Amino acid sequence: MEVKQIYANTPKTYEGYGSRLGVEKGAILDWSDYYYLNYLPCCHTKWPDHPPSLREVMEEYTKEILRLGAVLLEVFSLNLGVKEDVLQNAFGGKDVGACLRANFYPKCPQPDLTLGLSSHSDPGGMTFLLPDDKVSGLQIQKDNQWVAINPAPHAIIVNIGDQLQVLSNSIYKSVEHRVVANPDKERLSLAYFYNPKSDLLIQPISELVTSKTPALYLPMTFEEYRRFIRTKGPRGKFQVKSLESQR
Ligand code: OGA
Ligand code: NI
Repeated sequence: MEVKQIYANTPKTYEGYGSRLGVEKGAILDWSDYYYLNYLPCCHTKWPDHPPSLREVMEEYTKEILRLGAVLLEVFSLNLGVKEDVLQNAFGGKDVGACLRANFYPKCPQPDLTLGLSSHSDPGGMTFLLPDDKVSGLQIQKDNQWVAINPAPHAIIVNIGDQLQVLSNSIYKSVEHRVVANPDKERLSLAYFYNPKSDLLIQPISELVTSKTPALYLPMTFEEYRRFIRTKGPRGKFQVKSLESQR
């Protein structure tokens, strides 16, 4: 614990070690803690001494994640019926954001009373989740039911985040997910968030806005949206920018 405290996060930068921030007083907390590493745009300031290989591994892992992210944005663009570079450009071209959240879920003596991570959707673009290969726990919401997503060998799970929902004018939906607590085993996961450049206005891409399919969201930068989510918690989702609620 003393070592973790050296890298404790603050509400301002979010980076480093912590547990959930920005929850209302009296809220039920999650049975987990995490280490948050803001990798792109530069510069992470809370590199732990251990493991010593972390920087090098992060550099290599990021390179691969960026490559995969770029390919998926092309596929998602084509699937929306727009030119292949539309989503990547909306994300800021090469200036995307990338942050890693390493989650640790300790064993929980009373798993029915809590969750490893409460239900949320990821606020950013998309998430590349490397789940614990031995311990399951992740669930997604589908047709109003929680469905377990079990780890498969050598597989990364890709979550659609809120910004892709906004850009696609809700053709892609950001996925609600949570992690259940486990009485017998601890669990680790790495969530790598691939985000739009933080100061760009994110709004439904113009090709998808028609008189039949009007824009569902107000333009807002990812930075503003993220700040809102961090102070209001997951219940703030889309609250600030939904045009649906104003119609
Ligand atoms: C997250 C997340 C899921 C997991 O970090 O946003 O949803 O399996 N993690 O740990
Ligand atoms: Ni998540």
